[in-house]
Amino acid sequence: MRILLRTHTCGELNKSHVGENVILSGWVSRIRDLGGIKFIILRDRYGETQIVVNPDSPVYSLAQKLGREYVIQVEGKVNERPEETKTNTSTGEIEVYATKINILSSSEIPPFFPGEKVSEELRLKYRYIDLRSEKMKENIILRHKMAQAAREFLNRHGFLEIETPYLTKSTPEGARDFLVPSRLQRGKFYALPQSPQLFKQLLMISGFDKYYQFARCFRDEDLRADRQPEFTQIDIEMSFVEEEDILNLMEDFIRFVYNSVGIKLPEKFDRLTYEEAMEKYGSDKPDRRFGMELQDFTQEFVDTEFKIVKNVLDNKGSVKGFITNIPISRKIASEYEEFVKKFGLGGLLWFKVDNGEIISPTAKFLLKNYLQIKENYNLKNGDVVLLAANENRETLNEALGALRLNIGRKYFSDKMKSFDALWIVDFPFLEWDKEEERYVARHHPFTLPKNLNESPDKIKAYAYDMVLNGNELGGGSLRIYNKEIQEKVFELIGLSKEEAKEKFGFLLEALQLGAPPHGGIAFGFDRMVAIASGSDNIRDVIAFPKTASGVCQLTGAPSEVSKKQLDELSIMIKKDEVKKNFEE
Ligand code: AMO
Repeated sequence: MRILLRTHTCGELNKSHVGENVILSGWVSRIRDLGGIKFIILRDRYGETQIVVNPDSPVYSLAQKLGREYVIQVEGKVNERPEETKTNTSTGEIEVYATKINILSSSEIPPFFPGEKVSEELRLKYRYIDLRSEKMKENIILRHKMAQAAREFLNRHGFLEIETPYLTKSTPEGARDFLVPSRLQRGKFYALPQSPQLFKQLLMISGFDKYYQFARCFRDEDLRADRQPEFTQIDIEMSFVEEEDILNLMEDFIRFVYNSVGIKLPEKFDRLTYEEAMEKYGSDKPDRRFGMELQDFTQEFVDTEFKIVKNVLDNKGSVKGFITNIPISRKIASEYEEFVKKFGLGGLLWFKVDNGEIISPTAKFLLKNYLQIKENYNLKNGDVVLLAANENRETLNEALGALRLNIGRKYFSDKMKSFDALWIVDFPFLEWDKEEERYVARHHPFTLPKNLNESPDKIKAYAYDMVLNGNELGGGSLRIYNKEIQEKVFELIGLSKEEAKEKFGFLLEALQLGAPPHGGIAFGFDRMVAIASGSDNIRDVIAFPKTASGVCQLTGAPSEVSKKQLDELSIMIKKDEVKKNFEE
């Protein structure tokens, strides 16, 4: 056997190679035995090639020893397959008659074979096997392509890729920090960055007017399908720009990156203000692909005597709902009612148009009103209207918005294949944190407010989110570049002068030493790739992700550490609180 481990890959050979002597290396994907002839499907990153070993071949006895997932090297001659056995894969016209086989590495029977349907837990524990599957391989390659396209676009537009520290001081982005104890400064902790926010602003102050970074961010928050404790942002910042410049360039950027993997996004992304989005969809990341916008039906109910609705309207509440054409019955409606109750609504009203008639359990009280809606909205047979009345507009929007999404995802999956991208702009600057009983910054406290002198609940921010198919793909803002405004904002969110100085003194100082106007955005790269791949779980596009409880199934992290390691850090574990003993 020659030293050369391969002359070609397993995805490369076609009719033009017939007659050539080749060497392939890869994993034994499958073995079939047809009348004594062995067909070995050899797989590598590039594809699969059929290897043929005849019973009279000198390598036949070796071929009999092979098992699935063995890593082998095969030397042989490329032959054209008989016409009836050709397939339309890239190597489907040929097969390689083996003259030599070399077992590079044997394999035990794996806990599952690549691509086999098994629990995600098992897939994550043996991720290196899972990553051999076609789908996972495609996802990882897709991720690479999108990363390259992103770099290409940003480099072409004059952005510099600059790294910022991972061991740093915490920047509040609303989540808990992951802390790293310092050995050299005992008793002190670094925080892993929730984002490079302040460093990128400092880079603007340094004069690097266009920056980007594929930044790993760390947030100790409750995990969901679209959230990981460590995730990747494409973090971007620019100086001497207005909001409009950022939105336009970033729209081109996202269009370019998706286009590079064959996905066409709209020529122009719509813009909705936060308020419009909440009114129409009850969400600041609306999925608009299945219509069913929320409507205000208050005027159709002004004269009602139906108590529940009348009380709400007497208290300046409203009636909202949406028109759809899904199957409906008392039973189904009561499930929806339970659903909206979780969001704080008292109940749900509904009616259906059937043969021109109104069908509804509440028709005897509200027929006139339902008929009015039918007329005003030109309803047809089969149309169903789901409605709710509430005094609190936000509760009403959010609950109906959640119901709308739930129904949309269930009944209109055919519409989910299209792509819808938009911007949400004009966000409120602050929001009231009930637990902490103070205002907190909705985006982050370095965002530039539009009208700082208004009452806190009316202040708007130069902040924007990009939404793709109902997912928040990215978010950013113009930043404060003036110390006095920054101090005022810290005050608004309840930071005392001392706290502001202790936490952000370095920023306040920098703002006095030549800070240009600047702004930027960060895109959740994992989400970007997941959406492009068609998966709704970002774990599917991360090589080694963590489970929902933050565990790495493969390595077992997080794990206990030795007493020696703890001693070096002057750290003591409260054993009774963690139940387990940390003995060496
Ligand atoms: P923000 O907190 O909105 O902004 O984050 C930007 C984007 O990062 C993605 N993202 C996540 N992805 C996976 N797992 C998570 N836990 C997670 N959290 C957020 C989302 C989100 O839109 N510094 C600001 C950006 C700026 O102002 O420039 C920031 O981090 O897609």
